[in-house]
Amino acid sequence: MIEEITLSDDFFIGMGGRQKTFIHPLDPSKCVKIAYSGNIRDVEKELRYRRICADHLKNSLLITKYFGTVQTNFGTGYVYERVRDYDGNTSKDLGVFLRDADAGKIPLQTVENVLMKFKEDFLRECIVTVDRNTANFMVQESPKGVYQVRIVDNIGTPVLIPLVYYFHFAAEWKARRMWNIWVNDMFAHFPNAVSVELREKLFSK
Ligand SMILES: Nc1ncnc2c1ncn2[C@@H]1O[C@H](COP(=O)(O)OP(=O)(O)O)[C@@H](O)[C@H]1O
Ligand SMILES: [Mg+2]
Repeated sequence: MIEEITLSDDFFIGMGGRQKTFIHPLDPSKCVKIAYSGNIRDVEKELRYRRICADHLKNSLLITKYFGTVQTNFGTGYVYERVRDYDGNTSKDLGVFLRDADAGKIPLQTVENVLMKFKEDFLRECIVTVDRNTANFMVQESPKGVYQVRIVDNIGTPVLIPLVYYFHFAAEWKARRMWNIWVNDMFAHFPNAVSVELREKLFSK
């Protein structure tokens, strides 16, 4: 008999355009994603990236751990590490973090620390993504006062022969370009949080 877990609204965390994410009912350190549109192309894209680049990604600080599939009352679920803060709550996403920061609710020094650490991690790990949606990045606070950005969705590329998976210089070049696009996006949307001075520090030359 195949073990099936039961998901319900009680466990619901959030959804974007393609997946619903739930707290794993048997293990709160994990979450379960359901491709509710029935379209698993994006899931396959991500899993192919994780498979081909497993060696490179195994010690990643940015990418969540993946634990395989599980049967659920909503069909196949994909199990990942759940991004949580020191208090056990699901971390907030980067969009919420920047909105709060822009409204003056988060010290600018904290914003700078979070984004400079993100820059360092991203340009070291060169994660393959072209995503500009801040809902797919989370700002994890664990332990208290220590922040780490995590990428929870839309990694990898659908291209047939992804050179960026095989040639690190290609991944580096892409990562640098993506990073600077994000910096400009953040500056454009959250100018109080990302000042001209911070933008200059964040840019990768
Ligand atoms: N590993 C995770 N830990 C905690 N929350 C997550 C995790 N992955 C996704 N989420 C939350 O669930 C939402 C939807 O998941 P996501 O993978 O982005 O789905 P979609 O493909 O539909 O955009 C995210 O925006 C985020 O708020
Ligand atoms: Mg998403």
